[in-house]
Amino acid sequence: MNKILVAYFSCGGDTGAVAKQLAKAAGADLFAIKPVVPYTEADLDWHDKNSRTSVEMRTLARPEIADRVENMQDYNVVFVGFPIWWYLAPTIINGFLASYDFSGKTVIPFATSGGSDMYKAEAVLKPLCSPQTNWKDGKLIDGNATIDDLRDWVKELDIL
Ligand SMILES: Cc1cc2nc3c(=O)[nH]c(=O)nc-3n(C[C@H](O)[C@H](O)[C@H](O)COP(=O)(O)O)c2cc1C
Repeated sequence: MNKILVAYFSCGGDTGAVAKQLAKAAGADLFAIKPVVPYTEADLDWHDKNSRTSVEMRTLARPEIADRVENMQDYNVVFVGFPIWWYLAPTIINGFLASYDFSGKTVIPFATSGGSDMYKAEAVLKPLCSPQTNWKDGKLIDGNATIDDLRDWVKELDIL
């Protein structure tokens, strides 16, 4: 049987809510990816080109992550969830993926957004994992997705 982890980053709570439901639907453990320095409201202002997120996304600077998944070796399937920022994954996700060896594991991204798709994000993230990673196509998930919606997705993925 696969041991599954749902790792996620969320600022406003939408991705976090989806991640919690997904973990229930998949019988997975949950891990919150958090920056050492939390994002403030001002940091998230995309109208301000000098805000922390605007600068990070423009320069691809990766914020330091607070905790590690100490037992990553125990998992064979890892979901990675994030909000779409500027059509991409927040750079903390780049840092998260680059700091583990996912060889032989299945990695499945998912995202929430205000409407943008996640193709561009996936194109950036996939090469951060080793070529031996079984990278599956991601899914953009509505913040209001029910546990049944997520169960259907998990069933489609055939990972249990
Ligand atoms: C800095 C920033 C940039 C964003 N850029 C986009 C974007 O390019 N496209 C989009 O559809 N939504 C964008 N959003 C909206 C978020 O993707 C959306 O609200 C998401 O569900 C938030 O997830 P969270 O509540 O887990 O943080 C952006 C939000 C922020 C804070």
